[in-house]
Amino acid sequence: MATERTLSIIKPDATRRNLTGKINAKFEEAGLRIIAQKRIQLTKAQAGEFYAVHKERPFYDELCEFMASAPVVVQVLEGEGAIAKNREVMGATNPADAAPGTIRAEFAESVGENSVHGSDAPETAAEEISFYFSGLEIVG
Ligand code: TYD
Repeated sequence: MATERTLSIIKPDATRRNLTGKINAKFEEAGLRIIAQKRIQLTKAQAGEFYAVHKERPFYDELCEFMASAPVVVQVLEGEGAIAKNREVMGATNPADAAPGTIRAEFAESVGENSVHGSDAPETAAEEISFYFSGLEIVG
């Protein structure tokens, strides 16, 4: 399995509850290295641009409001098969379906306020990383 990079976001519900360290510990325990990280406040328009793929979905407006409702921590995670490994550590989108021990099982509040985002494929990972980070900010 190749070394990969993926884009992770610790979402507003989690930063509000001071869970950044606990969530980072889950990534590190799974062998994912945090090779870039910053705390930012998204505008609703920026959140909308990031989630443009969901523009036609009924939850889009609420999702954009939520993502701009408090700071987020954006990160690049690196490791063997990092994209799938991160999705595994995150757990299912709906915390009610998330496997025990996953971030969403332990911390997510609802399907909308589900604590973390992770890229779902190599192409989206590359696009999402460059949405938030310049090459100089990523130190592998
Ligand atoms: P999605 O890409 O399907 O899930 P994931 O984050 O696991 O890749 O959806 C993106 C986000 O949209 C999801 O994390 C939370 C929000 N969302 C809702 O608010 N309601 C929904 O019914 C779905 C499917 C997603």
